[in-house]
Amino acid sequence: MNAVPPLSPSISAPRLILGIDTSCDDTGVGVVELLPSGSVRVRANRIWSQQVHARYGGVMPELASREHVERIDEIMGAALEEAGLSVQDIGAVAATSGPGLVGALLVGLMYGKGVAQALNVPFFAAHHLEGHIFAAASEEELQAPYLALVVSGGHTHLFDVPEEGKYVLVGATRDDAAGEAFDKIARLAGLGYPGGPAISEAATRGDPDAVPFKEPLQGQKGFEFSFSGLKTAALLAHKAGAKPEDLAASFERAAVRFLVKTTLRAAHAYGRGTVVVSGGVAANRALRAAFAATDLHAVFPGAGLNTDNGAMIALAGAAALHAGRSPSALDAGAEAYAPLATPLAEA
Ligand code: KG4
Ligand code: ZN
Repeated sequence: MNAVPPLSPSISAPRLILGIDTSCDDTGVGVVELLPSGSVRVRANRIWSQQVHARYGGVMPELASREHVERIDEIMGAALEEAGLSVQDIGAVAATSGPGLVGALLVGLMYGKGVAQALNVPFFAAHHLEGHIFAAASEEELQAPYLALVVSGGHTHLFDVPEEGKYVLVGATRDDAAGEAFDKIARLAGLGYPGGPAISEAATRGDPDAVPFKEPLQGQKGFEFSFSGLKTAALLAHKAGAKPEDLAASFERAAVRFLVKTTLRAAHAYGRGTVVVSGGVAANRALRAAFAATDLHAVFPGAGLNTDNGAMIALAGAAALHAGRSPSALDAGAEAYAPLATPLAEA
């Protein structure tokens, strides 16, 4: 691997950073403006959500890669247009290198490297979860220390961020991811896909006391998550004739309470007053309201930045650029499994 010299952290002019995410079934391209003060502004965020997988009931990796190849140019053009820029204005490029589907990741990674090389600007291989966390930088400057709860369709991770760029894994799910549980229970109740918004909408018409869900991992000393018990309870309630909207309201409240309670305990244990909540499930209104009712300062991504997107990767790139981190070598590869943090036991 070639050594890449670090950039000077003191940059004088605003920089425009292109961000690309093709880790799963969304082709996302965004543009972020980084001011010398370190403040950022999202200039564009374009997403192509692939519909081709719907008929299979799950993401088909080969089809995802193919569709990224077919769409990425168009989405890139749309993002530049939204930002009112031409490609020559781009001053740095960030693209997700993992974790994700390797074939899908490679499309955005190679595209990003190509753009960076053609423009002769720095390139940053970005971690998908760091992108989710930095999505919240669209709302306010993230200043460590803080806790970061990433809740999406593929991840439920709680990190402690003691200093910029350092992530300690405090807890993760033992089974399903939070978003996965929303999706599976929505499918079971016939509420459609994606399950998160469908459950949320149906919940407004349902009774949260109708189905008595037991709190998962009750009494645990650690900060782990588990959703399989809630899923089984939902299945039993459904078979017993629970109404879809009651199931939705009861499950949503149980899942939200569990996520908030575990995060709150971790915040007190680690002495953190701020929590960044991100990933697709962070769009959930009940989750946002529940965090707002705690004594924590909760920061959420802005509209359109909760689910997978390119702007969050540009925001992670902007943070790396501002911190003076070294750009990545152009031979940085795609990685299916890429832990962001040191597990607690090894920290
Ligand atoms: O971050 P994301 O796009 O994908 C992964 O990286 O996995 O998150 C997608 C997940 C889906 O499971 C979807 O059901 C969930 O986020 N989601 C929600 C809401 N909107 C999306 N879950 C709960 N409430 C919502 N409003
Ligand atoms: Zn994601």
